[in-house]
Amino acid sequence: MLQKITDLLIEVSSLSVKNPEELELFRLKYLSKKGLLSDLFEDFKNVPGSEKKEIGQKLNLLKQNALEKYNALKTELLNHEEKENGTDLTRPSFPFSLGSRHPISIVRTELIDIFTRIGFTVSEGPEIEDDDHVFTKLNFAPEHPARDMQDTFYISRISSEDSSPEDILLRTHTSSVQVRVMQNQKPPIRTISPGRVFRNEAISARAHCIFHQVEGLYIDENVSFADLRQTLLFFAREMFGEDTEIRLRPSYFPFTEPSAEMDVSCKICGGKGCNVCKHTGWLEVLGCGMVHPNVLEACKIDSKKYTGFAFGMGIERAAMLKYGVNDLRLYFENDLRFLDQFKSAF
Ligand code: DAH
Repeated sequence: MLQKITDLLIEVSSLSVKNPEELELFRLKYLSKKGLLSDLFEDFKNVPGSEKKEIGQKLNLLKQNALEKYNALKTELLNHEEKENGTDLTRPSFPFSLGSRHPISIVRTELIDIFTRIGFTVSEGPEIEDDDHVFTKLNFAPEHPARDMQDTFYISRISSEDSSPEDILLRTHTSSVQVRVMQNQKPPIRTISPGRVFRNEAISARAHCIFHQVEGLYIDENVSFADLRQTLLFFAREMFGEDTEIRLRPSYFPFTEPSAEMDVSCKICGGKGCNVCKHTGWLEVLGCGMVHPNVLEACKIDSKKYTGFAFGMGIERAAMLKYGVNDLRLYFENDLRFLDQFKSAF
């Protein structure tokens, strides 16, 4: 038996095949259930104990060599085929990974979609702004704390001979676009302005120095607080779900009077109270109010004839509520493990 195995070892090592059929014959002859190796293992049962060790080792070597030879011949054949045809048509194609939209982009598009359905247009303004559009025309008093260096990134102060010095800064809110729209259009005005804003804040889970807002503005004759409320209710239900409730709490902004903040009922606990809504059942979404007559007049709109409402919200905040994201920094890190989760969102 030892001699037979030794002969087969030599035979296997010197074998070659020309085509898949010959390869299959090789497999049948040596490796199949009825092949030589199977027979030898069967015979091995009758080998006397004293020879078992030596023969067993040789037999295992033969099995290993035959398997390796089979795999090597198979690869050789495939490579040969590939060379002949140029390509291996049986090879599965490389998977290519689809990109995804950024969650801020998804929510921005959705906001635009919701408001354009009820007649709002989209307008944009510059990110590098002047004090006049960001503060003065919006009825901020000269010493208002929002103008403070700690909040606002100032770029430079332009002084010209015929006008007083003017600060150039990065806009701290998209309300500046309201001013530009009112200066350039006549009522009726119905517009939203999405965009990037900048504030000198320490970066944390809840604050960032760059974020996004959407501003809304509606100016016409007889626009009332009831119109504001109903518009916001429509928005909240489109954005967060049909059964969403809203509540308006009195607040203060220099450019609106009266002013309010809007909360939506917490979707996570259904209003019963949970960690996310800090057990209140409500989540704060946006600021809003009736456009202050001083703002209308500053933009040359007759405040006796026209009234209007405005609102402004953070897109990151809306996305956080919609997707249950609890850390603002995730939006800016571009970690694929985060972004990949929005693949099917839109
Ligand atoms: N500009 C405000 C902010 O950045 C948000 C805001 C509040 C905008 C009330 C408005 C408004 O148009 O009416 O916090």
